[in-house]
Amino acid sequence: MSAAPRVTPAPPRKRKAVTLSTLGERKALGEPIVMVTAYDYPSAKVAEDAGVDLVLVGDSGAMTVLGYPSTVPVSTEEMLMLASAVRRGLTTPFLVGDLPFGSYEESDAIAVRTAQRFVKEAGCDAVKLERGGSSVDRARAIVDAGIPVMGHVGLTPQTAVSLGGYRSQGRTAERALEVCEDALALQEAGCFAIVFEAIPSAVTELIVPKLEVPVIGIGAGSQTDGQVLVFHDLLGIYDGHAARFVKRYANVREQMVAGVEAFAEDVRQRRYPEPDHEYTMAPDEAARLEELLSG
Ligand code: KIV
Repeated sequence: MSAAPRVTPAPPRKRKAVTLSTLGERKALGEPIVMVTAYDYPSAKVAEDAGVDLVLVGDSGAMTVLGYPSTVPVSTEEMLMLASAVRRGLTTPFLVGDLPFGSYEESDAIAVRTAQRFVKEAGCDAVKLERGGSSVDRARAIVDAGIPVMGHVGLTPQTAVSLGGYRSQGRTAERALEVCEDALALQEAGCFAIVFEAIPSAVTELIVPKLEVPVIGIGAGSQTDGQVLVFHDLLGIYDGHAARFVKRYANVREQMVAGVEAFAEDVRQRRYPEPDHEYTMAPDEAARLEELLSG
């Protein structure tokens, strides 16, 4: 009987780092782009291992990990801390940092300064800002300073109050036209991609063909070049309100609660720690210690 051929295990597949050109190629080839948010080292490692293309340190972290009631209160310092932790967990995906409310609107100089901090201090590859209007000028200034910018139109949570709350946008032809004009202006300002949030799919279908840059949708239907979901929503970690567009792919929070409950019960019943969890000491050393303590 001849010996079975030796099978050499295949080396782990090395993925190439995602760049701006990768994203352009994906759009040209019609290959969907995948983006998730992340806010710390473990969520970044999960995104890395899952092979996503883009990771956004979204200001949604204000709510999902910092416990604020909206995205508005989060500071630049807090966002930089989250983004730095995410950077340490990533090698392959393209990393985008969300400029928080109040950190870029006032002037081009302030917008550039904040964007530079995301790149220099947190290691982001790009930044994202919300809205059209004056944000178009801010986007242009940041792009001119050499930092890639992602735009965000439709429902822009930082200014949700002025949009009448967290509701879908572009449901009238006039408002849909505004969303389209904002997206085109952001593209013209040099944005490398644009997020469409909470707009009717019929609107997306009409606008996307007018844009050359990739459109990443969240609640914008299936006709975008890519999709993004908030990490804590898609994994079922966040127990706050979930928008209509959220699909839960796991229920991690339930498992987390069950795990901590089981630990608490084991401690209370003196079932934990078990001998396997304990450190040992040579018996003669233990005897000597006893002597020392009694002396
Ligand atoms: O902050 C965020 O998570 C976002 C995404 C929803 C696009 O802006």
